[in-house]
Amino acid sequence: MENQRGHVIVLPYPAQGHINPLLQFAKRLASKGLEATFATTHYTVKSIQATTVGVEPISDGFDEGGFKQAPSVKAYLESFKTVGSRTLAEIIVKYKDSDSPVCCIVYDSLLIWALDVARQFGIYGAAMLTNSASVCSMYWQINQAILEKFGCLNKIDWVFCNSFEELEDELVKAMLGLWPLVMIGPMVPSAYLDQQIAGDSAYGASLWKQTGDECIRWLDKKPENSVVYVSFGSMTDIAAKQAEQIALGLKASNKSFLWVIKDNENKLPVEFVNSIGETGLVVTWCNQLEVLAHQAVGCFITHCGWNSILEGLSLGVPMVAVPQWSDQPTNAKFVEEVWKIGVRVRKDENGIVIGEELKMCVNEVMDGEKSKEIKRNASKWRELAKKAVSVGGSSDRNIDEFVAKMLKAEG
Ligand code: UDX
Repeated sequence: MENQRGHVIVLPYPAQGHINPLLQFAKRLASKGLEATFATTHYTVKSIQATTVGVEPISDGFDEGGFKQAPSVKAYLESFKTVGSRTLAEIIVKYKDSDSPVCCIVYDSLLIWALDVARQFGIYGAAMLTNSASVCSMYWQINQAILEKFGCLNKIDWVFCNSFEELEDELVKAMLGLWPLVMIGPMVPSAYLDQQIAGDSAYGASLWKQTGDECIRWLDKKPENSVVYVSFGSMTDIAAKQAEQIALGLKASNKSFLWVIKDNENKLPVEFVNSIGETGLVVTWCNQLEVLAHQAVGCFITHCGWNSILEGLSLGVPMVAVPQWSDQPTNAKFVEEVWKIGVRVRKDENGIVIGEELKMCVNEVMDGEKSKEIKRNASKWRELAKKAVSVGGSSDRNIDEFVAKMLKAEG
C-alpha cells in the first residue's frame, strides 16, 4: 500500500537526557509533514507534552515506578527488551490497516532490540545516538564491553546523531562508509535558537517538577552576563564534600549564581545557605533552556552531559567544564581544546574540585585573559548551530532527505 503520510515511531530510552533529544526530533519530523508517534514507557508517558506528535505508552515491565523498581540494571534492560518488543509490536499492528501504517522505527541506540522489531515487520530501522559522534566512534573502536550497542550500526538504515556536521567535521569525514551516519542536531527547540521563546517551544518533557518562573523572575533582576548557572544534569548526584567546595568557590568568585542541586538535603553548609541573600538562588530543578537563553547568564558550570553541552553551545554560553563520568571527560576536552568555548577544572588527588580552583575558572571564563576569545568562540558556535538547523542548513537538509524517503515508503 502506498503510504499516505510517512509514519515514524520514535522510541527513547526513558531518562531525561534521552527523552529530550528524541522528543525534539519527533517534533521536528512532524513539522516537516511526517506523522510521528513517540512511544515511551508508562512511567514517563505522563510527563510528555506534545501537541504535534502522537504519544503511545509501551511497557518496560515496571509500569508503576520505572527503572527504580527494577532489582538491577541488567534485570531492567532484559525486561525492557522482552516486554518492550512485544508492546512496540502492538503499536505497529494497531496502525497496520490505517491510512498511515508505520514505515520506520527511530530508536535510542541503547535499545537495539527495536531493530529486530522493525525487521520483523519489514520496515526501516534507524538508531539515534544521544552522545557526540566523536564519543560514539571512540566507544565503537575501543570498547568491547559495549560492542553490542554498536555491533549492528552497519546493518541499520540510518544512524542519526544529535550533533551537526560543522561541529565534528573531521569525525564525520572519517566515518564515511563505515556507518550510515547522519548528523541531524542540535536537537534544541528552534524557538530558543531564534530567541523567540513562546508557546510549544520547550522539549515538552520534564521528569522532575520545575520551579515555576521563579528562576526567570530572579534572573530578570540581574545585569547581562553576570550570573553563573550551575547544574550537573539529571543523573549525577554530587557528594556533600564536592557541594561544599562548589559553595566556597561560588562565594569566593563574587558572582551571582543560580544553582540546580537535585538532592540538596543537608549538602550545603548552613553558613553558606544563610549568607546567600540576593546573590544566589538554589533550586532543585528548572527549565534549563529558559535559563541558558536568559541574557543575565554569563557562565555555565556543567557536568558536560551531551545535552547540556549542546544547549550551552547553541545558546552561546561560555562554560566551566566539571566532567564526572562516561562521555563527559571527552566532551570537556572538546569544550576546552577544540571548540574553545570554556575551561576545564583540574581536580585534586581525591577527585574533588576545590573552591579556589572553581573560583579561578569562573573568573577566567567571565573576566580573565581568555574570556574575550571564549566569548567570541561561543558566539561563533551559536551562529553555526542555528545555521545547521535553519532552512537549507546541514542538519535541516539531512532531515529533509530522510523525510522525503519516508513519504515514499511503504508501511
Ligand atoms: C546523561 C549523561 O549524564 C550524559 O553524559 C549523556 O551524554 C546523556 O545522558 P544527563 O546527566 O541527564 O544525561 O545530562 P544531559 O545530557 O546534560 O541532560 C540533561 C537534560 O536535562 C538537559 O536536556 C537539560 O536541559 C535538562 N535539565 C537539566 C533541565 O531541564 N533542568 C535542570 O534543572 C537540569
